[in-house]
Amino acid sequence: MRLKAVNARDLTPEALRLFTGRTPLLTAGDPTACNTMTIGWGGLGEFWQKPVCTVYVRQSRYTFQFVESHDYFTVSILPEDRKDALRLCGTRSGRDMDKIAACGLTVRYGAGDAPFFDEAELVLVCRKLYAQDMKPECVIDHGAASPFYKEGDWHRMYVGEVVEAYHA
Ligand SMILES: Cc1cc2nc3c(=O)[nH]c(=O)nc-3n(C[C@H](O)[C@H](O)[C@H](O)COP(=O)(O)O)c2cc1C
Repeated sequence: MRLKAVNARDLTPEALRLFTGRTPLLTAGDPTACNTMTIGWGGLGEFWQKPVCTVYVRQSRYTFQFVESHDYFTVSILPEDRKDALRLCGTRSGRDMDKIAACGLTVRYGAGDAPFFDEAELVLVCRKLYAQDMKPECVIDHGAASPFYKEGDWHRMYVGEVVEAYHA
């Protein structure tokens, strides 16, 4: 096992630049079944006096069902040289293939049996605190939002407490 557990609050700002220039894998499920997909949008911060990670998942994603049906999700940053895996996990659906096997990723389990990848540089294990559908009527800047919702399929936002972090 490459990754070592660290305190989420001890991660350096550098390590926490999860969504700037990096595209993590969002994974959910349990030892019986799981799925992963590439995500480009999300954020890290503080909420309800907890360190949190927020992700946005369209309901059409196969991964959506896993995030919905489990209390935990994980966010794994793969090394820069695994762009092949990010491309595959961001363009193919787990409905049609076993993406994790195809990418040769090694699944490990954290809190709540949440799956993540031992090849990652950094992993956050998150316990869902809050979920809410994003809605057209709540948009303030329609110019910013409209390019992304031409076909509907609005994101559901999940705020997860970072309960574990793993660093290579
Ligand atoms: C760079 C990149 C970023 C992405 N970001 C998101 C995201 O933040 N939310 C989302 O719902 N889909 C996002 N996607 C799309 C999913 O990764 C893609 O639809 C994937 O095939 C879904 O797989 P699944 O059906 O197995 O869940 C992104 C794709 C790429 C390539």
